[in-house]
Amino acid sequence: MLLHVPEILSAAQVDFCRRKLKSAAWADGRITAGHQSALAKHNLQLAETDPLAQELGALVLDGLNRNTTFFAGALPRRIFPPLFNCYRGGQSFGYHVDNAVRYDRSGATPEPLRTDLSATLFLSAPDEYDGGELVIEDSFGTHDVKLPAGDLLLYPASSVHRVMPVTRGARFASFFWIQSMVRDDGERRLLFDLDVAIQSLSAGGSGAETLASGQNAALLRLTGVYHNLLRRWADV
Ligand code: NI
Repeated sequence: MLLHVPEILSAAQVDFCRRKLKSAAWADGRITAGHQSALAKHNLQLAETDPLAQELGALVLDGLNRNTTFFAGALPRRIFPPLFNCYRGGQSFGYHVDNAVRYDRSGATPEPLRTDLSATLFLSAPDEYDGGELVIEDSFGTHDVKLPAGDLLLYPASSVHRVMPVTRGARFASFFWIQSMVRDDGERRLLFDLDVAIQSLSAGGSGAETLASGQNAALLRLTGVYHNLLRRWADV
C-alpha cells in the first residue's frame, strides 16, 4: 500500500528545517547505500552521526508520534532515526530496492531493524524544483509521487523505486524506515482499512466520509476487507 500522510510537520517546522539544512555539512549520499544501490545513487546526505540530523530527526519523530494516520498505516514497532538528503543539479537515484536490514550508526538504536516500510517526508514544495519525483513500481504499475512540503509517503520497502533527476532548484527530504508490528503489507492494509472504517463510523453523521458517487466510504472499505479476508481464507 502507498499511503500519503499529510502534515507530519507544520509550515513553521518545515521552514525551521530548511533554514538549518541550508548551511548543513552535506556528504556524498553513498555513505548509507548498499552495494547495488551505491551504483545508482547520486545525491547529498547528512551523516547519521551529524548532530543536525539528530536534532531535526527528533522533530520528525515527534511529528510521527502525534499522527494517527501514520500510526494506523505503519503500526510502527521501531523507527530508524530519520536521515536527510538533497538532490540538485541533475542529481538522481536510479532504480533500487532498500536494504532489508539496517544498522544505525548513530548508536540511537543498537539493534538491527527490519525495513518493512520506507518513508519519504518532503521538505521542499513541488513548485521549488523540477523533476525529483519519487517513482515506485508495484503490481499495479508505476506511481510518480511529489507531495507538499511537510507531507509523508509511506510505501513497502520491498518495492523497486527511484528518484528522477532534479533539473531545477533543490529537493530536500527526510527519509527513514519502519519495522512494523505487522510484517506483511497485505495484513497491514486490512487493519488500516478496518481502522479507517471504524473511525468514520464512530464520527457518524456529518463526520462520516462520503464518496463523490454518494456511496458510504466506510461501507465500501468494510466490503473490501470482507472480500480480501475471504480471498485469503477461502478454499474453492
Ligand atoms: Ni530507496
